[in-house]
Amino acid sequence: MVLLTGNRRIRTAVFISGKGSNLKSLIKFSKTNKSPISVELIISSNSKAKGLNYATIYKIKKNVLNFKNNNLSEKKLLSILKIKNIKLICLAGFMKILSNNFIKKFKGKILNIHPSLLPKYKGLNTHERVLNNKEKYSGCTVHFVNSRLDSGKIILQKKVKISKNETKTSLAKKILAQEHKLYPKAILKVFNL
Ligand code: GAR
Repeated sequence: MVLLTGNRRIRTAVFISGKGSNLKSLIKFSKTNKSPISVELIISSNSKAKGLNYATIYKIKKNVLNFKNNNLSEKKLLSILKIKNIKLICLAGFMKILSNNFIKKFKGKILNIHPSLLPKYKGLNTHERVLNNKEKYSGCTVHFVNSRLDSGKIILQKKVKISKNETKTSLAKKILAQEHKLYPKAILKVFNL
């Protein structure tokens, strides 16, 4: 993906629904010299998302859209993204499914992070299913978003070993720590940096 022009950074929106720890790591990364992106907008599908606090902390514009009427919310969203001249979207714990129409409008410009070694364990309750299946390894994946859930081209993955007494919570924590490193790395890779 070649979007870089001169020294200008890619105007990026991060979509969240919850805690926003990946959002925080992306904002921190965006402030480093090597980052090709600048986080200009935070979109949340949940007005109570803790991650919205980072909008205040880092003085970044935010919008909450409830997606109760998907069509209407996406219409509003597209107009907000246009006004803010957003060129890249990073989904970071965003728990809504974007329509094909929306994805087409940002073709090849939406990234997602998922807490499993895709193509294994698409969808929800990943850690629980991984543990129930007695897997030896799990991990996280950054991929391009296409019209099928958690199925777009894989950019980077990180594998983690599952410990003997692993629980859903400990595994989620272990993987999340890797996600915070993987997302920035994947962005550098997307821009051939
Ligand atoms: C992360 O583990 C992310 O991979 C996962 O939600 C968590 C969000 O944490 N995303 C999905 O499950 C999407 N299918 P965060 O809000 O602290 O970044």
